Parts: sequence; C-alpha cells; structure tokens
Amino acid sequence: MPDERPRRYPPDLHTERLTLRPFTLVDAARVQRLAGDEAIARYTLNIPHPYEDGMAEAWIESHPDRFQAGESATFAITLREERLLIGAIGLTFAERHHRAEMGYWIAADRWGQGYGTEAARAVLRYAFAERGLHKVMATHLAPNVASGRVMLKIGMSQEGVQREHVLKNDRYEDLVLYGILREEWERQQGES
Ligand SMILES: CC(C)(COP(=O)(O)OP(=O)(O)OC[C@H]1O[C@@H](n2cnc3c(N)ncnc32)[C@H](O)[C@@H]1OP(=O)(O)O)[C@@H](O)C(=O)NCCC(=O)NCCS
Repeated sequence: MPDERPRRYPPDLHTERLTLRPFTLVDAARVQRLAGDEAIARYTLNIPHPYEDGMAEAWIESHPDRFQAGESATFAITLREERLLIGAIGLTFAERHHRAEMGYWIAADRWGQGYGTEAARAVLRYAFAERGLHKVMATHLAPNVASGRVMLKIGMSQEGVQREHVLKNDRYEDLVLYGILREEWERQQGES
C-alpha cells in the first residue's frame, strides 16, 4: 500500500559537486557560525545578526512543519564528497499562484566557485520538475551584484526594481526583482 502520509522533508538533490539535503540539528552550530558572518548579514533580509545561541536550532526545527504545510522547502548545501555544510537554499511557496521565491547563502570562504549557481539550478529543477510550479522568483538588494549574477546565470530575467524598498543598515535600498516562468525553464533545458 502506498504511504500517503504527507512528507516531512524534501528529497535530497544531487549535482556534480553538491548534495542538497534537509538540515538536522547536528548542523546548528555550523549554521550559527557561517550564517552569523557579517558578510552574509550585509545583503540578506531574513538572517538575524547577531546570530544568537538557539536561533539556528529553532530555525532548523521549524523546517519539517513548514514543509509539510506547503510553506517552504529548505536545503542544506553540502559538498558532495566531503559532506561539508557550506550554505543554505530554499523556496517559499505561494501555493495559490503555483509560484515560489528562492533565497540562498553560501559561506563567504567558498564564494566565487560557482556553488551558489549550482545549488540554485538544482532547486529550480526541483521547483519545476518535481513541484510542478509555474514561476520561481527571487529578489536582491541592489548592491548585491553577486546574487544578481546567480539569478541571471540560472536563466532568470530582471522584472523590475522596487525603489528604496527596504531599510537595511539605516539606508533605504532598492530591491531588484527576478523571475523565470516554467516554459522559459523548459526551453532552456532543451537548449542545454
Ligand atoms: C550570492 C552568493 C550566494 C553567491 O554565491 P557564489 O557561490 O559565490 O556564487 P557563484 O560563484 O555561483 O556566482 C557568483 C557570481 O557573482 C560574481 N560576483 C561576485 N562578486 C561580484 C561583484 N562584487 N561584482 C560583480 N560580480 C560579482 C562572480 O564573478 C560570479 O559571476 P560569474 O560566474 O559570471 O563570474 C554569495 O555571494 C552569498 O552567499 N552572499 C551573501 C548572502 C546573499 O547575498 N544571499 C542572497 C540574498 S539575495
């Protein structure tokens, strides 16, 4: 008989160099250290700074319920061979619209090696091929050029700029919007 209980965790996703898998509490100390880096906090909107004791545990413990409720799917980005945690990536679903918003961070000492792009491509595939979504979007603070590059490299298009939309470190920053439709993603799969 098929198991019809709602799943508590997303599946593992594998790429050439990475395994994306659910977080467990064993990851908490490393999440606190890596995500607590000012280099990560500078350009993100939802990561606490300072990243205090207990915050990583609470965040990780929220994942199964949020996944089961159809609210989000969050993955630890790990190096496939070393099994080392180097970042996080996730989708927040707007189920009614068959849409999700992607967010991610990579440990600062691993930047510029294509890991962000590789993880984002895998999650895009999960969104369209496994979740059947119609659209995936993402946003970045205007000065965060690296994140904009990742969005472009995975095939997203810029859809607009919300001017001075967020207050970050006492400055009003522009928020740049990106998106990709299912049919665009499918066309790109055919081309590659
Ligand atoms: C955004 C982030 C995930 C990118 O991760 P990454 O593993 O370094 O990404 P990649 O190596 O796949 O690609 C980064 C791209 O940005 C480019 N880049 C990096 N810094 C740049 C800068 N200051 N100016 C222009 N391009 C820059 C890199 O050259 C690369 O593009 P290329 O392949 O065309 O040369 C990482 O920088 C990060 O975690 N930043 C802090 C958290 C964050 O910003 N999260 C996203 C919030 S929207």
